[in-house]
Amino acid sequence: MGDVLEAGVARKTKAAPAAARTKLVLVCSPKGGVGKTTIASNLLVRAAQQGVRALGLDLDRQRTLTKWFAKRPAEAQLFSVREATFSQWAALSREIRSNRIEQDGRLTYELVVVDTPPSVEDHLLEVRNILEDADLTVIPTKPGDFDLESAIPWGRTVSGMGGKTVMVLNQINKQASSWQQAQNRIIKSRLSVCPVALPTSEDVTRYLDKGLALLDLTKARGDSMERFEAVYEFVAQEVGL
Ligand SMILES: Nc1ncnc2c1ncn2[C@@H]1O[C@H](COP(=O)(O)OP(=O)(O)OP(=O)(O)O)[C@@H](O)[C@H]1O
Ligand SMILES: [Mg+2]
Repeated sequence: MGDVLEAGVARKTKAAPAAARTKLVLVCSPKGGVGKTTIASNLLVRAAQQGVRALGLDLDRQRTLTKWFAKRPAEAQLFSVREATFSQWAALSREIRSNRIEQDGRLTYELVVVDTPPSVEDHLLEVRNILEDADLTVIPTKPGDFDLESAIPWGRTVSGMGGKTVMVLNQINKQASSWQQAQNRIIKSRLSVCPVALPTSEDVTRYLDKGLALLDLTKARGDSMERFEAVYEFVAQEVGL
């Protein structure tokens, strides 16, 4: 694991200024396997590296995020992950909205990232409740036609319910232009799309079994890492972190 950093230990981190309110990012999509957990985990890792106090809420009964977090080396657990269910949202909402402050004057959690199961449209009522608390909904999608035919209507549903929404293209082939067509199609559907698209990269899956994410890697920094970092910065800016 020579080229792996136990998150935030070797990288210099800068404490984020105290946020007045916990920011909540909901990651969801109707499709499975589009990168929800990948994006949620990298957002959490990057937040921790930036000195932002972060919590992941795992609403997926498959508990992928929870299992991944449990494998992380103790020194890399610079954020928390908690299992939860949709039906617990009222209590979770109260807890998040309480904006608990620690002795150092900073929020217990400055960022909460909610990872969700596929077929999220089956939980429309619960999603509506979460949207009342969410600062941003991130909808990852692959660039294929069938992917967009499912992701775009969902994006419109979420934004129609009043949620600030951004689509993130994932698993694009940088060599092909099809992802740009996908980007155009999203924009023409009057939805926001993250200006940075994420490529398919073997590094994304390389150390998953060790509980590590792409942004934990230190050596062989490449374009994929730059892009995942840029997605974090975009999300952070959108929620006002
Ligand atoms: N940019 C990428 N490059 C390479 N592999 C990726 C990329 N994004 C995701 N993957 C891989 O694709 C698979 C599905 O990703 P992930 O688990 O993040 O999707 P998901 O939307 O959370 O899936 P589910 O709906 O089952 O919860 C995983 O094996 C993941 O490692
Ligand atoms: Mg998942």
